[in-house]
Amino acid sequence: MGISDSDPLALRVAARSDRKSFGRLVTLVRTSLSLVWSSGRGLLLWMIGLNLLGALALALQVVAIQVTLEAILRSPDAGAGPVLAPVLGLAAITAVSAVTTTLGGQLQRLLGESVARSMWQRVLAVATGVNLSSFESPDFYNRLSRVQTNAIVRPYQVTQGLFAMAGAGAAGVGVGLALVSISPILLPLIVVGGIPLLITSRRESRLEFEFSVRETPAVRMRGYFTLLQTGRDEAKEVRAFGLGPWLRERFDALYDTYLRDLRSHVRRRAVLSVLGQLGAAVMLGVTLLALVWLIVQGRIGIAGAGAALVAVRMLASQVQILFGGVQTIFESGLFLDDLSTFLAEGTAAEEEESGVEAPQSFGLIRVEDVHFRYPGSETDALRGVDAELHAGELIALVGENGSGKTTLAKLLAGLYRPDKGRITWDGRDVTSFRPSSLRRQISVVFQDFVRYALSGTENISVGRVSEPIDLERVRSAAAAAGAEQDLAALPNGFDTTLSKMFTGGQDLSGGQWQRVAVARSFYRDAPLVILDEPSAALDPRAEHDLFATLRRALHGRTALFISHRFSTVRGADRIYVLEAGEVVEEGSHDDLIALNGRYAELFRLQSAAFVASAEDAPADGL
Ligand SMILES: Nc1ncnc2c1ncn2[C@@H]1O[C@H](COP(=O)(O)OP(=O)(O)OP(=O)(O)O)[C@@H](O)[C@H]1O
Ligand SMILES: [Mg+2]
Repeated sequence: MGISDSDPLALRVAARSDRKSFGRLVTLVRTSLSLVWSSGRGLLLWMIGLNLLGALALALQVVAIQVTLEAILRSPDAGAGPVLAPVLGLAAITAVSAVTTTLGGQLQRLLGESVARSMWQRVLAVATGVNLSSFESPDFYNRLSRVQTNAIVRPYQVTQGLFAMAGAGAAGVGVGLALVSISPILLPLIVVGGIPLLITSRRESRLEFEFSVRETPAVRMRGYFTLLQTGRDEAKEVRAFGLGPWLRERFDALYDTYLRDLRSHVRRRAVLSVLGQLGAAVMLGVTLLALVWLIVQGRIGIAGAGAALVAVRMLASQVQILFGGVQTIFESGLFLDDLSTFLAEGTAAEEEESGVEAPQSFGLIRVEDVHFRYPGSETDALRGVDAELHAGELIALVGENGSGKTTLAKLLAGLYRPDKGRITWDGRDVTSFRPSSLRRQISVVFQDFVRYALSGTENISVGRVSEPIDLERVRSAAAAAGAEQDLAALPNGFDTTLSKMFTGGQDLSGGQWQRVAVARSFYRDAPLVILDEPSAALDPRAEHDLFATLRRALHGRTALFISHRFSTVRGADRIYVLEAGEVVEEGSHDDLIALNGRYAELFRLQSAAFVASAEDAPADGL
């Protein structure tokens, strides 16, 4: 059957499209039309008008040809006089037909872009709105990729297909009527001639969609290898490790496989389409033979025969266009299903946007016996974590790599929900709050924060986009994070674009970037600030300055910070030590040193390294 057996989606979709072909066609056309209508109704109306005009012109051409031939045949000796008007008419009609085609092409371009824009709007709204866990699933990426490369333009293609059908249909009716007036038996022959094409093109549509589904993972992988070789961030490592040839080899291998698959796909499509065309050609031959027979039998005159010849030719191509349109619609339909599945994920996320407004402040945040496992993961990242954050406190989270610090930060930030246990704000479970309103009360700097290729000002003010930029605040947030001097010293000061990707842009050092990210979190003005290793890239002085002024910069807000540097951690009101997803110790620095457990061990390890290197002797055990 040519249906990929590995992909349940393709199977399901194909099965459904087989069962309810006509109803499906109607639904597809309706949804696509309303999408196109809402993207550019003026353009759509123009297109309809032009198409009607084009169809009319085509039908009139047949009539004009017949009239011209009749005029010539009626009085061959009368000179050019009687023939002049129909000939000029024919020329005018042909011109009109050509003009509608040209104009239509340009309009199509405009309309196509308008539709693409509104489709992008929807797709991007979903991409930025779905739960973070979607980004943990390869299926999501596959669909996202198909939607981006395929589905975006499909509603427009359905409309185009529809126009082709409508135009061809109208022209077909016009020319068909003209033909019927000449002889009634030719028309059915031509219509039947389109059927082979209809059948093979349905099959072709399905092949196309299955091919796309099958190839998406490999195509995405290829895209990734392209990015590795063209990305700015990757460029230095690719050179330092000499990865160019190796990456190209892998890229080539992927491309080769794809081309091989494409070749066999194209071959199958070509066979189908040749079969369809052959079928159509045979039927056209039969029709023309019938015409000859009619002429020989004297059932139609010479003028009628001439016009019929033209009409048969025209009609045959209109029938092709008509069924081609049907094919486009069916083919697009499979991709549109894909699109609507994708858009539905966005709807699901929106439904989660229910709940009460989160409070603007809190007295106590409690993490109560929280368990969490990443989707698709085998082990728990958090296993029964308990913690408390009192308003105004500076809380530190320490622990070895992979112990669950960032995960806890993400849960506190409302990006994931605990699988078990709960997080409460003054006794109220945060899951009762509308997620977006909770997130508004929290400001996070992640370990891998984003370096926006935007200006310094924007890099800070993205901390709160719900309100217009407050330059004063940008400055003071930058000052509090120790980023002000560096930004002010750039060629355009705070307005300098912080990336060399764009003209006039400048890049910052790792530590300077980190300060900008911290400034962003200060700018947000949320009662809870979470800083995931905000000082990892800072030099000792900058780090000291940041933490010396952190309390002041926070203006009484609560902060949870994650750090591997015990020199900064010791200033915290309370420290939680995480190990393999569990809190193993908690208390102030002095408490934990007195406890002489995990924390004390790690602390001694780190300070020993300092002391040892200060004495210029090798560090013990390092
Ligand atoms: N997106 C993810 N999907 C699946 N597992 C994850 C994901 N992110 C982290 N993990 C796993 O969860 C555990 C905790 O990771 P987490 O990032 O919270 O550690 P961390 O304490 O912040 O470490 P580090 O000090 O290296 O930043 C680790 O075992 C990690 O492999
Ligand atoms: Mg981390």
